[in-house]
Amino acid sequence: MTSIPKPSEATGAVETAVTYLREHDSEHLAQLDDFLRLESVSADAACADEVRRTAQWIVDEMGRIGIERATLHETSHHPIVTGEWMHAGPEAPTVLVYCHYDVQPADPLEEWVRPPFEPRHEDGRVYARGSGDDKGQLFMHLKAVEAWMKTHGSLPVNLRFFFEGDEEVGSEPIERFIDEHADLLRADVCVVSDGDTFDDDGTPAIGYGLRGIAYWELRVHGPRQDVHSGQYGGGVHNPANALVEMLSQLVDDDGRFTVPGFYDDVRELTEEERAAYAALPFDEDAWADETGVPQPMRGEQGHTLLERLSARPTFDINGIWGGYTGAGAKTIIPAWAAAKISTRLVPDQDFRKIEKLVKDHLESLAPPTVRAEVNVIHGGAPAVTPLDHPGVAPASRALEAGFGKAPLFQRSGGSVPVVAALDAHLGIKTLMLGFANPTGNFHAPNEWMSLRNIRDGMVSIVHLWHELGAMRATDLRSGEDD
Ligand code: BES
Ligand code: MN
Ligand code: MN
Repeated sequence: MTSIPKPSEATGAVETAVTYLREHDSEHLAQLDDFLRLESVSADAACADEVRRTAQWIVDEMGRIGIERATLHETSHHPIVTGEWMHAGPEAPTVLVYCHYDVQPADPLEEWVRPPFEPRHEDGRVYARGSGDDKGQLFMHLKAVEAWMKTHGSLPVNLRFFFEGDEEVGSEPIERFIDEHADLLRADVCVVSDGDTFDDDGTPAIGYGLRGIAYWELRVHGPRQDVHSGQYGGGVHNPANALVEMLSQLVDDDGRFTVPGFYDDVRELTEEERAAYAALPFDEDAWADETGVPQPMRGEQGHTLLERLSARPTFDINGIWGGYTGAGAKTIIPAWAAAKISTRLVPDQDFRKIEKLVKDHLESLAPPTVRAEVNVIHGGAPAVTPLDHPGVAPASRALEAGFGKAPLFQRSGGSVPVVAALDAHLGIKTLMLGFANPTGNFHAPNEWMSLRNIRDGMVSIVHLWHELGAMRATDLRSGEDD
């Protein structure tokens, strides 16, 4: 798609910083373990103090490596951390780095080989909750800056950090924070490291898209309390039955979501984009094998698997419960049943509009024999970033320098709400440079990141500041707004 220029001659300065990383490797990995031991689970109210300690750990670490104005900001939920080093001069670009320090809950605990917050090093991997998503990547950014600061006392670019503690629960505080603290975030470009490389064989990737998300809880209420299914069956509409009847109407035989208006704003792939997708080295069988499913699902007709995985909307039941789930049998009609459901969204779907469309539609699907309650849980906007952005070529060179292989360009199926928010509020475009392993068990038991990606990624970031530092701020700002 984009042809990648040869890596710039690495200057002596870059080499010195890279050597620093190599020489401090074991010390850095031990420190990463300290960071991963902190149980920064944003979804669990019982972890709130630990989430705060994690934010404070980052503030302290930034102070130690010479990042200025390192600050823990209170928000409506978990703290946001910012800091900066702005002495590269007014001509030099200003780069904003975003990562999140919160992690997903670790359950089911019994499936972890070692407890999730006791990092395990094995087979060239670090296993721990947050190793890939996203504390490991945040840590890599700190170390890359440390390498420059310790060896040169300066950075080639002006740098700002923006670290969030609510990404895994929907990033509710960020829009307000961006509005109220624009002066701490303004930059010529943002670098987000919260995704993955192209494969597990050391092929790096530049992300150019993320899906958005909308998420609801649906609760269906039936009789006042559980009733005997023999006495009442055939007369009382079972709310668990009603729930699945409603949900099963949401997707048609062609794998399309049936909510009226849902596809109105979906931007179709161009022929060029489809060709780019088709050209990616993607092995469907290996993919299915890896996930353990017998075969990929049929999905939305008219789209390839890879397209469906990142460029098309999807619908999922994320959880479903209600009624009797204990041992043996219990013959009841439950009083209620519930489900957590979500859709992944693509440009130009508006998550707020979708939230309402689906809520209204579900309410209309509820039969008069039950009462349905639909609550919005959270949402985030989709994003695509331009591949002709002036930061793409230097970022490609930096990744090639770190990994020894040119990056491929991919759209991710996941969501990172800050990307669209920074563009909408401050006009800042994002380069998505993800370093986690694509099969590294994000959100799942035994999450891991390879030492190779940690090391090559840190070296890439060291190069990135060199590459971007060779540009002028005005040349890095993407020309037009799309
Ligand atoms: N890092 C992920 C998103 C991601 C996954 C990007 C894989 C690229 C590849 C992020 O932490 C995440 O899990 N986001 C949530 C967002 C939601 C809670 C609003 C998601 O995608 O479910
Ligand atoms: Mn993440
Ligand atoms: Mn995540």
